[in-house]
Amino acid sequence: MSLQIDDYKNMKAVSTKLCELNQIDNNGSAAFVAKRNGKKESFIVIRKEHNVFVYLNSCPHIGTPLDFSPGRFLSKDKNFIICSTHGALFRINDGFCISGPCVEQALAKVPIKIIKGTIFIITN
Ligand code: FES
Repeated sequence: MSLQIDDYKNMKAVSTKLCELNQIDNNGSAAFVAKRNGKKESFIVIRKEHNVFVYLNSCPHIGTPLDFSPGRFLSKDKNFIICSTHGALFRINDGFCISGPCVEQALAKVPIKIIKGTIFIITN
């Protein structure tokens, strides 16, 4: 599905506001809860340079949230997303696990649109 910024009115029907871009530090992370398709879910938001990556906050190993303290998802060097339960490392750009018990699995990437500094998750 491809949406244009001009389709803002239509987007309201297929997206949910997640957060404001300025709520996340550059090279930082945060967690937000939003309703997607009628179900409350927790989302990982990573901001890196000019890019934003959003994943479902559920480790592919056993399905637990990844953060060791609320909203903290990054390894010390800030190059990977780390799961606090068993230390799996995931690439930021695609959520692919490169180390740990769920190696070669991936976080569930969530499609987003950013409009005027607001991040929306696309819900269908
Ligand atoms: S629950 Fe994430 S690595 Fe085990």
